[in-house]
Amino acid sequence: MKLRTISLFVATVLLSTATFAQKKNKQKTIPSKDVLVTELLSKMTLEEKIGQLNLPSAGEFTTGQATNSDIGGKIEKGLVGGLFNIKSVARIRDVQKVAVEKSRLKIPLIFGMDVIHGYETTFPIPLGLSCSWDMNHIKTSAQIAAKEASADGINWTFSPMVDISRDPRWGRASEGSGEDAYLGSQISKAMVHGYQGNSLMDNNTIMACVKHFALYGAPEAGRDYNTVDMSHIRMYNEYFPPYKAAVDAGVGSVMASFNEIDGVPATGNKWLMTDVLRNQWKFNGFVVTDYTGINEMIEHGMGDLQAVSALAMNAGIDMDMVGEGFLTTLKKSVEEGKVPMAQLDAAVRRILEAKYDLGLFHDPYKYCDVKRAKTEIFTKENRQIAQNIAAESFVLLKNSKSVLPLQANQKVALVGPLAIAQKHMPGTWSVATNFDTPITLRTALEAKLGQANVNYAMGCNFDYDPAFVEKAGFFGKPLPSDSRAKEVLWAEALEAAKKSDVIVFAIGEGAELSGESSSRTNLQIPQAQKDLLKELKKANKPIVLVLFNGRPLAITEENELADAILDVWFPGTEAGPAITDVLYGTVNPSGKLSMTFPRNVGQVPIFYNHKNTGRPLSLEKTQKGEFEKFRSNYLDVPNTPLFPFGYGLSYTSFDYSNFKVSSNTLSKGGKITVSVDVKNTGNFDGKEVVQLYIRDLVGSVTRPVKELKGFQKVAIKKGETKNISFELTEEDLKFYNSNLDFVAEAGEFEVFVGTNSDTQMKLKFELVK
Ligand code: BGC
Repeated sequence: MKLRTISLFVATVLLSTATFAQKKNKQKTIPSKDVLVTELLSKMTLEEKIGQLNLPSAGEFTTGQATNSDIGGKIEKGLVGGLFNIKSVARIRDVQKVAVEKSRLKIPLIFGMDVIHGYETTFPIPLGLSCSWDMNHIKTSAQIAAKEASADGINWTFSPMVDISRDPRWGRASEGSGEDAYLGSQISKAMVHGYQGNSLMDNNTIMACVKHFALYGAPEAGRDYNTVDMSHIRMYNEYFPPYKAAVDAGVGSVMASFNEIDGVPATGNKWLMTDVLRNQWKFNGFVVTDYTGINEMIEHGMGDLQAVSALAMNAGIDMDMVGEGFLTTLKKSVEEGKVPMAQLDAAVRRILEAKYDLGLFHDPYKYCDVKRAKTEIFTKENRQIAQNIAAESFVLLKNSKSVLPLQANQKVALVGPLAIAQKHMPGTWSVATNFDTPITLRTALEAKLGQANVNYAMGCNFDYDPAFVEKAGFFGKPLPSDSRAKEVLWAEALEAAKKSDVIVFAIGEGAELSGESSSRTNLQIPQAQKDLLKELKKANKPIVLVLFNGRPLAITEENELADAILDVWFPGTEAGPAITDVLYGTVNPSGKLSMTFPRNVGQVPIFYNHKNTGRPLSLEKTQKGEFEKFRSNYLDVPNTPLFPFGYGLSYTSFDYSNFKVSSNTLSKGGKITVSVDVKNTGNFDGKEVVQLYIRDLVGSVTRPVKELKGFQKVAIKKGETKNISFELTEEDLKFYNSNLDFVAEAGEFEVFVGTNSDTQMKLKFELVK
């Protein structure tokens, strides 16, 4: 079909949504993707081609300095390929109308947004979600996010963020799935499937964008945007797998990271974007920069705007987010022979193909059904699911003398500013959330127990340092405050405690203490809250901490002082009811940490799958926390973390026994079965995440002391025993060697099962080839 016919077709479908709606049941036939895109490319001017690579922000929310002017005019001239940060179906429809009615070639725009952990129905922050270890829940959260976002005009999300991080100083650890490549890969896959569904042609799925490619989670000293310097063997084995998992799951787009890799910023790194991503991993979607990522290469010291834009294009970047380096310099670079026309055409083709895959050439208003927006967003059903999922993400860190679950007849002293900090409940990157909707812990608790049974006192301000408090409440989320002297606030809290049977202290970070540009060198609870906790001890009542946090915190002291600690991260819009469900045992906690909690910040980076060194401390001394001279340990703190990866308690207890491997040898092409009985020995039905780790005892390169290779989240009734089995094949034993070949080496392996990464329950088998 000739382009004129295509345009005619496009024009016909654009007459009006109503006309289209009437016709919608009829199957529209348009040319195949290849034919349509090739025809369009042949008609496009160089300016129009470059325009497709331009992604401005609508400017409602900004993360950088740049602003885009006259977006409407540019869209009319065909100088915009997509737009992001615009909310509401009616507005998106208006903008789309400009593109498909006023621009020469009537090419529809794609509309992106940071739909990171839900849309208006907001789920726990990703780090919290990852602690559910429940791939169905995680996929469901992405599905609901896609349904709501697509009902509001969005067809592209900048998620999942899969950057492995072993450094809780880095605030963006909150946006990822923690420290482990295996768990991270499973989550990456689940998210992509959740967003993209079976087909992007459906109107309730959206295109995912895996980010930030690559290694953004390993900045020096945990400072955001800082330099990353890492061996290739570590990249391939420990950091790349979740990105690759997204590519293997069919992710439609990839976002470049801000950091450098091997001395070249990711945005201009041809090895990364072309050799690894396209040639090795066979990715065939498009790559977008991060926000002004091209322009930032000037500060990195890579040249002027024309030079860095050409560098990005030649490296394999397709779309320029916000910075307009492509828009303003690529034409010149093509004319001067600095960017081959074929490279540019390939980028334009990928963008057009993505639009085709989303069904936008079939119907540019496909995501602009106003009725859907009214009925499918923030529904009762979605919120109930969000509440259930949030409860599954909480991690019970401590529960001495079974203080939890609470009894409904106990009077509760509820303290802490976070118990009433409504706008903080969704946590970082909640751009679509309506901040009047989250339910606080106080509201939910009073609804459950009746106001008379909840004695609320703020007890302290968020912190003593007003500048720090302001940072915690960035983006218009001021924290509740009280100007009275701290002693007066303490006295009030103690009074509330005296009248009550138990103290529940909502303690921790504010929503904006984690997320982008929120790195911390101090991982402690803010001092004002720490001091209140010490005061509260005077009441001699059990103390339950409900911990809000966007990263692992150093809570060694709080762990001594409190009787129970429930880590709830930032739970989303349904925070209060989800927390109440767990505090009262309607839901038995089953979350497990996806990131290690250090004893203090000096242990960072600390992670379970480290190497052994030539001078390891013995297991016995490690467990006792004893120091030994000339061994790899610290003078002042044990090597062990406060809480290891995979850790999390339940109101019940689980016993592991009858641990077996089906054979002591695993041959090429064969498999062995690893099985264990898990018995619920306590008084509650519960869920356990049964974890399997391996250790490769001898290798051509050094291997980690443990690596997660399987897990199952299983519901086990009280008194019940379940036999859990895992299969291991040679594939599970593979790693990248010095040549970066993915191989399994013959020899002895240990296999561990248990309730967290500290497990010492192990057996041996041998891989024979
Ligand atoms: C962040 C990305 C985000 C983008 C668009 C950047 O500052 O690094 O994660 O997707 O802004 O909002």
